[in-house]
Amino acid sequence: MCRVQKLVAAKLVVLVRYEASSWLPTDKNLEQMRDFLPTLLQWIMHDWDEEHCTKILSNCYRALPEKGKVIIIDIVLDPSEEADPYSNIKNSFDLVMIAHTNGMERTREEWHNLLTKSDFPSYKIFQIPNLQFIIEAYKA
Ligand SMILES: C[S@@+](CC[C@H](N)C(=O)[O-])C[C@H]1O[C@@H](n2cnc3c(N)ncnc32)[C@H](O)[C@@H]1O
Repeated sequence: MCRVQKLVAAKLVVLVRYEASSWLPTDKNLEQMRDFLPTLLQWIMHDWDEEHCTKILSNCYRALPEKGKVIIIDIVLDPSEEADPYSNIKNSFDLVMIAHTNGMERTREEWHNLLTKSDFPSYKIFQIPNLQFIIEAYKA
């Protein structure tokens, strides 16, 4: 298995574990799960500027069920993290997004501002052993 295949496999295992623990429905809670169905945005936000991201996220917020959440899978830039093995590739992604789209990669502070402006009262950022992070923004 080459390095890229190993990385993809590791990413899938992490995501499947994450999904399984968070979302796997059982007979008992299947009905309840409908109220929590998440909206998934992977590699979407970094294509867009502040105005469009706010519009997309505000619309997601309005469309979510009462206890729903948006799951964003995207890069989180951390300028202070010198030991980050992904820092070069994260910065390259940032430049590509700036050059080829109206978007950018975002720091924790920029994610905070975006989610707050889009009405989400709370959110959590999960770091996984991958280039991307998982950001969960909760309606309630
Ligand atoms: C970087 S890709 C990510 C695709 C996928 N989420 C993934 O993780 O592989 C961005 C996606 O947004 C889609 N897209 C761009 N503008 C859109 C729009 N206005 N409405 C819906 N989808 C759009 C593109 O077609 C593309 O599939």
